[in-house]
Amino acid sequence: MMFEEEINQVVRYIKPSGIRKFFDIAKTRKNVISLGVGEPDFITPWHIREAAIYAIEKGRTFYTGNKGLLELRIGICNYYKRRFNISYDPEANVIVTVGGSEAIDIILRTVLKPGDEVILPTPAYVAYAAIIEMAGGKVVETELTEENEFKLTPEALSKVITDKTKAIILNFPGNPTGGIMTREDYAKIVPILKEHDLFVITDEIYAELTYEGKHVSIAEFDEIKDRVVVINGFSKAYSMTGYRVGYILAHKDIVSMALKIHQYTIMCATTPSQYAAIEAVNNGDNDIEVMFTSFKQRRNYIVKELNRIGLKTHMPMGAFYVFPSIKITGLKSEEFCEKLLNEENLALVPGNAFGEAGEGYVRISYAYSLDEIKQALAKLENFINK
Ligand SMILES: Cc1ncc(COP(=O)(O)O)c(C=O)c1O
Repeated sequence: MMFEEEINQVVRYIKPSGIRKFFDIAKTRKNVISLGVGEPDFITPWHIREAAIYAIEKGRTFYTGNKGLLELRIGICNYYKRRFNISYDPEANVIVTVGGSEAIDIILRTVLKPGDEVILPTPAYVAYAAIIEMAGGKVVETELTEENEFKLTPEALSKVITDKTKAIILNFPGNPTGGIMTREDYAKIVPILKEHDLFVITDEIYAELTYEGKHVSIAEFDEIKDRVVVINGFSKAYSMTGYRVGYILAHKDIVSMALKIHQYTIMCATTPSQYAAIEAVNNGDNDIEVMFTSFKQRRNYIVKELNRIGLKTHMPMGAFYVFPSIKITGLKSEEFCEKLLNEENLALVPGNAFGEAGEGYVRISYAYSLDEIKQALAKLENFINK
């Protein structure tokens, strides 16, 4: 490769996503079934698409203010109050971002000083570690285990806190494990987070896909709320991945700092997408319900089937992934996925793409039609039986 020595060395050594790497291989083959991508298979509900079309038709195609349209910020705050009973001020506490992805990036760049440690419970969504490093931070992993239902325990948290720890990333319901945290689970870790004055970055992008009980945000805990940064977005709950709209909810002083990065790098999220998001957040509760019901059915089906064919699978409480153990096969995660792709034309994601803690597992997304899921399971059963 050219420029190796000249380019930013942090970027040079960041590993390309273990998901993409695998699917690039899959794409070169014919008749591959993939349960790899974390993207709902529903077309965005029509009234939301219509709102985007209408915005374009009416010429609402200019930059918006940097924080995003006020009507959208009001809608987001009403939504957090309505669904999760947490109050935010649309003028002071919100930035509309380009997906949850931008939100993660600008918040880490806002809070981290060079060398600061960020606790990352793993297996974790692939982007976090890379973004922490690009923001000058150091990733400190702590393992979420199947025995603890992939929840963060006070022991796992305390073990990795040092005097350099600046922040922690939480993602419940989680990608790739589907783990959730209840109010009681959070109550056990909040005193530790408070004692060490950590910034808590909570990525709640799968909040609406909580199958047992109701989603609880750690922002509920008043004693740490000033240091909690909520990240959420429209991609998963409303099947709006391509619109690229997300948001940050945080203390006004964090918002005003993060806004500088957003202002100079992004300016504002796409305007017609913001109009679509207004429609989603104000009138989309019913759409959430419909997709939720379908995902829950698929979850129940796929977990039952995986256990039947011999892959021990924990029942995920949220998101749209299952994380079966493949340890009985004696294969490493990557080996398992490579063989599966070669022999059965089925593409799954190796668990170690989400950190070493994911070794011995694979991630299967059930954001696919029941028909595709059935075909994939038949291939998997064939493979296991061999
Ligand atoms: C946990 C998690 N956070 C954030 C994102 C990014 O979503 P978006 O940028 O589309 O809002 C994803 C996407 O897969 C995710 O799984």
